[in-house]
Amino acid sequence: MRMYDVIAKKRDGHELSSEEIYGFIEGYVDGSIPDYQASALLMAIFFNGMNEREILDLTTAMMKSGDQVDLSPIEGIKVDKHSTGGVGDKTSLIVAPIVAACGVKVAKMSGRGLGHTGGTVDKLESIPGFRTDLNEEEFFDVVRKTGISVIGQSGNLTPADKKLYALRDVTATVESIPLIASSIMSKKLAAGSDCIVLDVKTGSGAFMKTVESSVKLAETMVKLGENAGRRTCALITDMDVPLGKNIGNSLEVIEAVDTLKGKGPEDLTHEALYLAANMLELAGKGDEDTCMKLAQSVIDDLSALNCLKQMVKAQHGDVSVIEDTDNFIKAKYSFEVKADRAGYIAHMDTEGCGISSMMLGAGRETLDSKIDMAAGIIIEKKTGDRVEKGDVLATLYADDEKLFDKAEQKYKESIIMSDETVKRNPLLYAKVSRDGIKYF
Ligand code: URA
Repeated sequence: MRMYDVIAKKRDGHELSSEEIYGFIEGYVDGSIPDYQASALLMAIFFNGMNEREILDLTTAMMKSGDQVDLSPIEGIKVDKHSTGGVGDKTSLIVAPIVAACGVKVAKMSGRGLGHTGGTVDKLESIPGFRTDLNEEEFFDVVRKTGISVIGQSGNLTPADKKLYALRDVTATVESIPLIASSIMSKKLAAGSDCIVLDVKTGSGAFMKTVESSVKLAETMVKLGENAGRRTCALITDMDVPLGKNIGNSLEVIEAVDTLKGKGPEDLTHEALYLAANMLELAGKGDEDTCMKLAQSVIDDLSALNCLKQMVKAQHGDVSVIEDTDNFIKAKYSFEVKADRAGYIAHMDTEGCGISSMMLGAGRETLDSKIDMAAGIIIEKKTGDRVEKGDVLATLYADDEKLFDKAEQKYKESIIMSDETVKRNPLLYAKVSRDGIKYF
């Protein structure tokens, strides 16, 4: 196989054979195909797409590029959940303990923050001492003991995705359905759970900006999951506004704990319950309504919060910050962003809000950047809210006062005001399962 011919074939809109796709993945992982040729192929895929068979081959080749976890030594059905990435999206921290408290095991491998979006592993590491680098035996033990464990991706899980994702990040080839679907599903399939719920974000803070493209991505991923024998469904949820109020690592853990105490913001609480209910439904706990009630009941009796505490303890984290979130180390400085005029918030460029939080130190500018765990934003006013001149739109938190100027500017640029009242977007748009698409 000549890589030049493979690139030219896709550039000219033709279908790649299985041999060519497997050859590309093998050659890229072993280093015989250089970044510049891989980049060219990614761009050709970005423009010309792939058919179902090509996407299946790409996903399978990526999944087989490294280890595949066998979760069968853990008894019972294991469910997983994956978000395509958003701003203020701390649902995994809420959903996983809810599901575990309902008796379904969650053995989850999560990622770090990516671009303007946050990552569950970074958020959990804001808990002092919390270890996300458990080996397989420790990981299984924690799941057996507490019903739940969340760790970082193990060293050799889908190395093809690790290399390709980093390359896509710097070659403007992230927002492509075949590339996102194969990236996510190769990891989820390799991670071994029996059931997978995908949270496909849509809007200004998501990689897919329209509902139509999000549904298409969801259909592609659900097919890949079901073809591999895993019960899979996808929910299309809004990311045209940050989820909840808090953006930033320990700030998001604090909001997740509040939600598990029944005191979270309405949008976050509802979305978390709905995701958890769908995980429970796939695991055979009843229909969606029954599972919604079940999920609510473990918030009400605090057993979900208790599950989170048990996991934190089992992974060597300091439980006192979960018992009383005031024990989290606070940022040294805070700064209030105030409205320059009265009106209604018509739109929040959610990617911009995420970038503003990164500028405060909550995310990585480069692969080696160190995260400030206490940095971030607490939002006071969101899309649709009435604002008077001088009202606080948001409070910024950082350990370095000099960061506030640029972060404030970025945050303000991300808020569009209007004199007219504004209708909020729905929280949930659609559900995609093997039974088809259901729009809400
Ligand atoms: N999340 C992933 O893991 N991969 C993508 O391509 C996009 C979001």
